Amino acid sequence: MLPDFRLETYFSRWEFNAKYNICASDAETISVQELLEGANEDDLRLWDNLTLAYTETYGSPVLREAIADTYDNMDPSDIITFTGAEEGIFAAMHALLSADDHAIVLTPNYQSAETIPASICEVTGIALDPTNNWELDIDLIQQAIKPNTKLISFNFPHNPTGKILSIDKLNQLISIARTNGIYIFSDEVYRLLERDDSIRLPQVADIYEKALSLNVTSKAYGLPGLRIGWIACKDHDLLDALERTKHYLSICNSGPSEVLTVIALHARDWILQKNRKLVADNLEHLNTFFAGYSELFDWTPPDGGCVGYPRYKGKEGVEQFCTLLVQKSGVLLLPASVYRSALTETPKDHFRIGYGRKNMIEGLKIMENHVNRYCRV
Ligand SMILES: Cc1ncc(COP(=O)(O)O)c(C=O)c1O
Repeated sequence: MLPDFRLETYFSRWEFNAKYNICASDAETISVQELLEGANEDDLRLWDNLTLAYTETYGSPVLREAIADTYDNMDPSDIITFTGAEEGIFAAMHALLSADDHAIVLTPNYQSAETIPASICEVTGIALDPTNNWELDIDLIQQAIKPNTKLISFNFPHNPTGKILSIDKLNQLISIARTNGIYIFSDEVYRLLERDDSIRLPQVADIYEKALSLNVTSKAYGLPGLRIGWIACKDHDLLDALERTKHYLSICNSGPSEVLTVIALHARDWILQKNRKLVADNLEHLNTFFAGYSELFDWTPPDGGCVGYPRYKGKEGVEQFCTLLVQKSGVLLLPASVYRSALTETPKDHFRIGYGRKNMIEGLKIMENHVNRYCRV
């Protein structure tokens, strides 16, 4: 039995009730009309001729081709699609892991990265170091490996800290996995929103034969309502196992979402450019805000993605800070309890803030008024 998904449970209560959601993890969205205005003629024909039939479980060939084009070394046959990234995580853990296996995950984490494998087999958590800008100690990974370790799972740019591993450390992780015949599940849903292009990591499935690279239209593209995610992987037996798992889940994607995703991927240059600029501008605002309140917050700008995880130092503690902020001022943040782990200690005084959406600036102003009125060091 899976435990409540704390982040989603918190969102069930507040996401559509709070006036200012400034903890969202997606970039600003666009309307269907705007997307169609950016479509080329062939893609518009696809849209006009679309029927509402079932689609192929793997995803339509044209969709898999458009996705494969976003990788360096992937063929359409290396791609399987899902209903969002979330279904991809669920299917991958069930296709890969059995009760006798062992998996390694990082903490803190997007909860399903931990709780789904933990519902299947033994899982070891390795904590990112909050005192050293969320650095990963590779030796701890090496020490955690057991004869039955089947999987190492990680997510960079990381939710909630925005941490990106150095390329050297990524290569060390791949080398450890390769030596021990271990799969890597690399959640890359925040990729393409790096603060600086030079720290963008390769997509792991492009460079490691036993890797599953997860991505989705939700985050950098700002199109979560499409619910189209995918896994890229060179291991076709594993892709077949994923397909068979999907038969028990959504079976296939929504046809309209598939075509709209093809259009979005073909139009990705302008969509990504727009979102990267917004994220960069919002980050400037956050840096200015936190610099003015250093007695209440510790803030290091994230390496990438569009969420960050500052520390709150006010005397009432972060849980009460977030509760009062949403109740009195209508501004939604995610407190540290949402990111609690059953595997390791996680910091109790941080909160997630999101900076991918246009309304962040307005929400931040309201938060500043709230802080001036209610918060004390
Ligand atoms: C790291 C990570 N992986 C997967 C997902 C799931 O993405 P989706 O909501 O598009 O299914 C999220 C969503 O927040 C996430 O942060």
